Amino acid sequence: MNCCVVGLQWGDEGKGKVVDILAEKADIVVRFAGGANAGHTVVIGREKFALHIMPSGAVRDKCACVIGNGVVVDPAVLIGEIDGLAERDISLDGRLFISENAHVVGDYHKAEDQLRENSLGKNKLGTTIRGIGPCYADKVGRSYAVRMADLGNLEALKEKLAKIVAYKNKIFAALYNAAPMDSGEVFAKYELYSEKLRPFVTNTTHLLHNSIAEGKSVLFDGAQGALLDLDHGTFPFVTSSNASALGMSAGCGVPAGMVDKFIGVVKAYTSRVGAGPFPTEQDNETGNHIREQGNEYGTTTGRPRRCGWFDAVAVAYSAAIGGINEIAMMHIDTLAGMEKLKVCRAYNIDGTEITFFPSNAEQLARAECIYETLDGWEQDLSGLTDFDDLPANTRNYIALVEDVIKVPVTILGVGPRRSQVIFRNR
Ligand code: IMP
Repeated sequence: MNCCVVGLQWGDEGKGKVVDILAEKADIVVRFAGGANAGHTVVIGREKFALHIMPSGAVRDKCACVIGNGVVVDPAVLIGEIDGLAERDISLDGRLFISENAHVVGDYHKAEDQLRENSLGKNKLGTTIRGIGPCYADKVGRSYAVRMADLGNLEALKEKLAKIVAYKNKIFAALYNAAPMDSGEVFAKYELYSEKLRPFVTNTTHLLHNSIAEGKSVLFDGAQGALLDLDHGTFPFVTSSNASALGMSAGCGVPAGMVDKFIGVVKAYTSRVGAGPFPTEQDNETGNHIREQGNEYGTTTGRPRRCGWFDAVAVAYSAAIGGINEIAMMHIDTLAGMEKLKVCRAYNIDGTEITFFPSNAEQLARAECIYETLDGWEQDLSGLTDFDDLPANTRNYIALVEDVIKVPVTILGVGPRRSQVIFRNR
């Protein structure tokens, strides 16, 4: 069984936990988009450890981990994760495979991300400053890009970096009055990157096709969420990759037809970090309550997340474009104790009722939500293991969501621990 797990909101839906559980039965876990802007916490013994680039299967010693061509790799972060896992007696030797076609995030990309955001003032995008946008821009621009395969030829890479650094220096000086970088210093780091990472670099598309032909089961591990998709999300308040399920094929070379199941992960409410329209946002006591109950602070940046009601219009859209078969709804326990709950089932935009999500950010910013209001529940759900034991009001809430998004909820997250998950038998 090959399965793809993606977020259907603006990221941070709790995919890590779903992937962690499903990875138990997977032979290979694949990351196909994004970079060190993502983040999820794994629990090793009594310790929590944040991973940003490494696929979630890393903590299972029988699981192979693939970083696909669609990922942008920050070598320093990845080496830090490999070393951090090694210190905890988890070795990646022989089971980490990095695509030779994946692009490399340089320090100059992170500098560019920061300089650009600073220069935008109140119009900034609120990026994670991990160099993601500038790296993908160089990928598309082609002339000044570095790929993982380049770590295999240091002489050629030295020349390439000299050209890139000279080019960036001119731009940074002209636009931001920034001090020049030294290409020798930039290159020095790549010698170490090459030594550490070259053994893992390979043709991952070939590896995946061979593995699937041999009957191995592959889990595709999405990063961010569909509404942050570069093409289908709320542009320009998006990330720079195809973070929806649509990015899977391009990001690892495996067609959607070879995947048996697409699972979309949502929170039982909505959260967003960074700027951009968010129709169901509750910038008030309700939002604060959800943030504190759900511990809604970023794994990568520590930023408090914006919180609001469940937006079924948005999720119906991301489920549709992703060909989603089943929904995992996380954090349902967080909503306990709220007297009334709201679910947005349509928007009113300029006097017209809309049920198909407009990804146009300006239009979305004008959306007024049409809510369905339901009674909440008092009961703590965190100890439940059976769907049928859920309070009637919780089941009503889930039924309403399913009615609008037209996809069944089959997995429920009722707490932070891996065991706190309910699988629904339908
Ligand atoms: P970038 O991906 O760092 O360029 O940031 C672009 C936008 O995507 C910003 O609003 C970020 O906050 C958001 N973003 C990027 N990665 C994540 C994530 O893993 N979770 C939630 N939001 C993210």
